[in-house]
Amino acid sequence: MVYNQNPPSQTPPRKKVRLQHLLAAKGQSKITAVTCYDATFARLVERSPIDVVLVGDSLGHVVQGGNSTIPVSVDDIAYHVRAVASVLKTPHLVADMPFGTVGLSNAVCFDAAVRLFQAGAESVKIEGASEKVCEQIQKLVEQGMPVMGHLGLTPQSLHALGGYRIQGKSGDHLDRLVHDAKKLEEAGCFALVLELCTAEAGLRVTEALNIPTIGIGSGNDCDGQILVLQDMLGMNQDFKPKFLKHFENLEEKVGSALKAYVSEVKEGTFPGSETRS
Ligand code: KIV
Repeated sequence: MVYNQNPPSQTPPRKKVRLQHLLAAKGQSKITAVTCYDATFARLVERSPIDVVLVGDSLGHVVQGGNSTIPVSVDDIAYHVRAVASVLKTPHLVADMPFGTVGLSNAVCFDAAVRLFQAGAESVKIEGASEKVCEQIQKLVEQGMPVMGHLGLTPQSLHALGGYRIQGKSGDHLDRLVHDAKKLEEAGCFALVLELCTAEAGLRVTEALNIPTIGIGSGNDCDGQILVLQDMLGMNQDFKPKFLKHFENLEEKVGSALKAYVSEVKEGTFPGSETRS
């Protein structure tokens, strides 16, 4: 089967989502984003009205079955970016800079970013806001490589943060978050992901910036929302943190399809007597 051929559609093709559209959306209309790691889902996302697609290092959980994003490598992200980029034309395509590529060596950082852009990314997402990270972001942006920031719960710093916990709870912490967000805007980020922050933090950071915030578990006031595609489709009913909504129950649907297939094969009703070409 050829996956990346879209059949003729009734609706006119959507316009390519570019950085200027995302920046202009702030305060005007909510930005919608999902993660995606493969061509099959990318084909479905391409036909939806989603604005932004992230090849996230969450693939460490979703695709690789691990329990953190730390083992995910540049090769892994580049491989999945290639798969998604082969099909995705309209939404803006962001790739995660994986663990260890940012805030340490410039050579490692710039090499990783170049590889992800060459794989088809249109921007990269970077966790954190240390001086070194901001310097590296500035350099990437100067070289024409757009950067999306990521604050709040930054899963690559899981061990330092003491686990997956809500961020921005205390006054000090909240002020720090706003301060870091402004540093990222100054460094040249075009948008900022805010993960697992209090709703108050989501609001304060969003109000403090001229660039859009894209929240995950950070309240209703962010300029947009992002969810892991497999999570919002309900492909794992056991995973339902408070902020997550299952917009579908694919776990059940896939389960029934597989059951039906097994019983038809066992009963001899599939493939049936007709020869298929
Ligand atoms: O890797 C990822 O999927 C992410 C989102 C949760 C924002 O960083």
